[in-house]
Amino acid sequence: MTTDDKFNALVLDEVDGKVVCAMKELTPDDLPDGDVTVRVAYSDLNYKDGMILGGLGRMVRKYPHIPGIDLSGTVEASSHADFAPGDEVLVTGHYFGERHWGGYTQKARVKGEWLIKLPQGLSLKRAMALGTAGHTAMLALMALEREGLEPDAGEVLVTGAGGGLGGVAVALLANLGYDVAASTGRAELHDRLTALGAKAIVARDELSAGPDRPLMPERWAGAIDTVGGQTLASIVSALKFHSAVGACGLTGGNELTVSVLPFLLRGVRLIGIDSSVVPAADRRLAWRRLAEELPMEKLDTLSTVIGLDAVIDAGTSILKGATAGRVVVDVNA
Ligand SMILES: NC(=O)c1ccc[n+]([C@@H]2O[C@H](COP(=O)([O-])OP(=O)(O)OC[C@H]3O[C@@H](n4cnc5c(N)ncnc54)[C@H](OP(=O)(O)O)[C@@H]3O)[C@@H](O)[C@H]2O)c1
Repeated sequence: MTTDDKFNALVLDEVDGKVVCAMKELTPDDLPDGDVTVRVAYSDLNYKDGMILGGLGRMVRKYPHIPGIDLSGTVEASSHADFAPGDEVLVTGHYFGERHWGGYTQKARVKGEWLIKLPQGLSLKRAMALGTAGHTAMLALMALEREGLEPDAGEVLVTGAGGGLGGVAVALLANLGYDVAASTGRAELHDRLTALGAKAIVARDELSAGPDRPLMPERWAGAIDTVGGQTLASIVSALKFHSAVGACGLTGGNELTVSVLPFLLRGVRLIGIDSSVVPAADRRLAWRRLAEELPMEKLDTLSTVIGLDAVIDAGTSILKGATAGRVVVDVNA
């Protein structure tokens, strides 16, 4: 083995019941089995990464563990028929970085079936400016479209709009001609959300206490919700007849108390969005559509870049709702 074989990774371990994190030097022999070895260029930071870094949510089954639920990079070696050295690829979903070692590393070994070839028009960096958050925003939009949502339907609400998933959803919907209302708890982000294409800003507090009554005046033609809890209950109570909300997140709580009346009397739909297990065709379509339908200059305004050494602090920040937009991790910085 040469020194060139060595690479850096962020490794989580469990010590006396507590999860601790350290930067370690590893060799390819340390990597798990898999049919494709990837030279990692970028990873990113999602809310779920914050939870895993903080030892929350019991998503990691075994330590030591390399976290990071997404990666983009270049294939270095492959025994998988669909991938060859030099291919640019990305991984999201498949419990990557949770049950399997993830992307906070300069080298990863993965199953070829998890990989997506980088869609035309997307760079390795922008792929991670999107990551699971962006991919989920598109999956939520696709779910709402399947329920009949169209740009002229009326106002579409995005909650947690100051965050990663929310920010991508605002930019995406606005670019497709939707009338977007962005909900945020941060006044300092109003201008940025307007620049992303939001036509209206809704204060987080307006939604977070839950509805005053089971059926509020019809307002939303659709919604992408990253907050959950009573915010989601507020949305359900104010959806227009036969419209739908995609429930993506839980930053405001994972309990939902909601009347059945909006379902029975307005035929509204509550759709769960899961980005971990997605049919391969939908996964590829979502990535292709992101590359084609999201204005890349808007994505750039949403993203900041950090190195592996800053990931722990950023993980603490995201759990406090203190990061804005998307955080890209340059694993070679
Ligand atoms: N279902 C899936 O497959 C899937 C995939 C990706 C993400 N998610 C989930 O989606 C959510 C967002 O993920 P993300 O990576 O975009 O996180 P993020 O960047 O931290 O964004 C979350 C946003 O939620 C808002 N928020 C934070 N704390 C809140 C609170 N206590 N009450 C109300 N709003 C609060 C904040 O927006 P404002 O400051 O603008 O209010 C924050 O920026 C997370 O719950 C994550 O687990 C789910």
